Amino acid sequence: MTDTGKRRILITSALPYINGVKHLGNLAGSMLPADVYARVTRLMGHEVIYICATDEHGTPAELAAQAAGISVKEYCDAQHEIQRKAGEQFLLSYDFFGRSSGESNHRLTQEFAQVLEANGLIEERTSTQVYDVEAGRFLPDRYVEGTCPHCGYEKARGDQCDNCGRLLDPIDLIDPYSVVSGSHNVEPRETRHLFLLQSKLEDDIRSWVEASDHWPQLARSIALKWLDEGLRDRSITRDLSWGVPVIGADGNPREGFENKVFYVWFDAPIEYIAATQDWAEAKGEPEAWRAFWDTSAGANETEYVEFMGKDNVAFHTVSFPATLIGSKQPWKLVDKLKAFNWVTWYGGKFSTSQNRGVFMDQALDLLPTDYWRWYLIANAPEGSDAAFTWEGFQAAVNSDLANVLGNFVNRITRYTASKFDGQVPAAGTPGEDEAWIAEELATRLKALSEHYGAMEFRKAAAETRAIWAAGNEYLTRAEPWVKYKSDVDAAAVGVRTGLNLAAIFGIIAQPIIPATASRILDALGIPEGNRNWPDHEDDGLLDALPRGLAITPPDVLFVKIEDSQVAEWTERFGGEA
Ligand code: 2FM
Ligand code: ZN
Repeated sequence: MTDTGKRRILITSALPYINGVKHLGNLAGSMLPADVYARVTRLMGHEVIYICATDEHGTPAELAAQAAGISVKEYCDAQHEIQRKAGEQFLLSYDFFGRSSGESNHRLTQEFAQVLEANGLIEERTSTQVYDVEAGRFLPDRYVEGTCPHCGYEKARGDQCDNCGRLLDPIDLIDPYSVVSGSHNVEPRETRHLFLLQSKLEDDIRSWVEASDHWPQLARSIALKWLDEGLRDRSITRDLSWGVPVIGADGNPREGFENKVFYVWFDAPIEYIAATQDWAEAKGEPEAWRAFWDTSAGANETEYVEFMGKDNVAFHTVSFPATLIGSKQPWKLVDKLKAFNWVTWYGGKFSTSQNRGVFMDQALDLLPTDYWRWYLIANAPEGSDAAFTWEGFQAAVNSDLANVLGNFVNRITRYTASKFDGQVPAAGTPGEDEAWIAEELATRLKALSEHYGAMEFRKAAAETRAIWAAGNEYLTRAEPWVKYKSDVDAAAVGVRTGLNLAAIFGIIAQPIIPATASRILDALGIPEGNRNWPDHEDDGLLDALPRGLAITPPDVLFVKIEDSQVAEWTERFGGEA
């Protein structure tokens, strides 16, 4: 941190897989909270970049392209565009949204592998894998199915039996067949792979995790559990054609690896760095990425925050750090890792095929982005899984957004227009009610900043709402509309204070509901440069708007969700099972 308190912050959210549009649960468990955090820290005046990308390699992309009858490259180009657009529509304020299949990631991934090998941390090993003779390809574990040797279940996956829950090795399956071709003509074959010797890095990683005692609880406990089970060396290549090619020290394909690529989980996190390099390149300062990643060039002053679902934690606390630490180069490691549980659809899974759940592209056909953003952050799956329900969504929108925030702003601005010439009134002296709300505001704004600082998103949303609610209570106490009849100056104080409250409500709403926040702040004539995060110690907050400033009442900010809509959407997207 500098003397001025300005911090440099790098934010990444887990890279969404390229295949398929993401559902609201995916959004809520990484990209959306990362965006809220990026927005609030920018408003607080810090230097922030938020980096994300599509995670494009791996078998699912290859198979989806095959099914669509197009090349994997064409498939990924189209899907990347769909996800980029969905992110834009959800107002995810990425500084860069990259692609793990890009040139920079290929180069960097290959460089990492070479450095790790030079450091004695990569070894070629032979393993036995199932080969689909018909399709002419090796099969990743979950693309082999067969009968479980333990319980006899006939559709056990190669990595795990869904019936008895045991972990399996695909070569143990009885009567195995290929999920890719459906063929039973499969056989175990020997194949060579590169292994990253994580066991050699165990002590280094453990010391680093143990020193990271400020990580939120969920991430820390998952990391320690993995370490306690002992780090296993892991294969970082696959028999596939789509991915980062494995090259030798001379830059040519590595002998025996001509038909292999790096494992998607090896190259994907490296894309965080590569995308930052692409960001720097795009802004015409090709070395700017170093301040975020190269600790010999200032990155030790950077705070690196990662957002992800809980299934990604081990990869980010163990595997990716193993790559970085093993390189013995001065790479920045994560400082704070915020992990989320799942958003469920009424306690179950989102499913495209069963029509359960809303996906990002469908959501915005129903309602504007802020409605979803609010509900998903207010119910963020932090302490445990959180169920999306139409009833909960309706209640949150109608109460928090329409009644508490929307009515306040609409009422006070319209009243100003009708009784005070549409201007911030100048007359009158603050009294007891104003002292009460000033005190309330100071306490609550402090708490709000603390919740954001601790990345407690549910609490931040609850506090935001509590501040809006306090504003409503203030108006109930001050009653400018009643006072107006006998004492216009006394009413003027109430209206001025109410307008200043509306401004603060808009300002603190920006991280979660940025579109509506802009509408409120535009209506109040607050210039872009004056929308920074409020200082709770500033005692001029309730008299910040210039007296005489012209305001324009906005149109209704939120439309309530009707029961008939809930019924219709339940029919279309599923509800209580
Ligand atoms: O689980 C997932 O959705 C992965 N695509 C996340 C990758 S995060 C990163 F390391 F790239
Ligand atoms: Zn079984």
